[in-house]
Amino acid sequence: MRIDILTILPELLQGPFSASILKRAQEKGIAEIHLHNIRDYATNKQKSVDDYAYGGGAGMVMSIEPIAILIDKLKAERKYDEVIYMTPDGEVLDQRMANNLSLGENLIILCGHYKGVDERVREMYITKEISIGSYVLSGGELAAAVLTDSIIRLIPGVLNDETSALTDSFQDDLLSPPVYTRPPEFKGNRVPDVLLSGNFELIEKFREEKALERTKARRPDLLGE
Ligand code: ADE
Repeated sequence: MRIDILTILPELLQGPFSASILKRAQEKGIAEIHLHNIRDYATNKQKSVDDYAYGGGAGMVMSIEPIAILIDKLKAERKYDEVIYMTPDGEVLDQRMANNLSLGENLIILCGHYKGVDERVREMYITKEISIGSYVLSGGELAAAVLTDSIIRLIPGVLNDETSALTDSFQDDLLSPPVYTRPPEFKGNRVPDVLLSGNFELIEKFREEKALERTKARRPDLLGE
């Protein structure tokens, strides 16, 4: 999978993609992440990428021209499954959406800033608008990093233990059960005996019960309650 991220702050995104699972996915050739600085496509002398809003009001608006030039260039090079705009008024990201997007080949992700992008970008280029939650970030970059991570880790071969993405919280609409490692006792707090029993049937039953209990207590909406 190839993901092209369009941003005015590429330096904000370099860190998240140069460590751990996202780094390994790129090294293995399973994922390609390309950061594009929108400013490189600015058409004016000042290299500005935003302007005052027509009709007045506080806040600058990201201009259509550099974004359009960049998206047109990318679309001439290959076909994209989606052109995504990260925005708090988009559809809220969930595991199902990440699963669906992970089946694609090529994605463009546009990171918004200021008061947003000229509406014509959304009308003419964007095929999907995604929010990562009901709060406002300073820009779309951190949201794009969250979305990219949620997608790439699902591609077969990215995680070492193929089953571990399948047992994630949310993958079956259940939260994950609690997990423990050594020592078996810490300041009097013992690991549940069943996990030390070696009885895999009982251990599986314990995990299922705990996952259900936790989901009921914390996210009953996942159970349709
Ligand atoms: N840009 C600013 N806030 C955002 C959010 N919550 N989700 C996606 N993009 C954003």
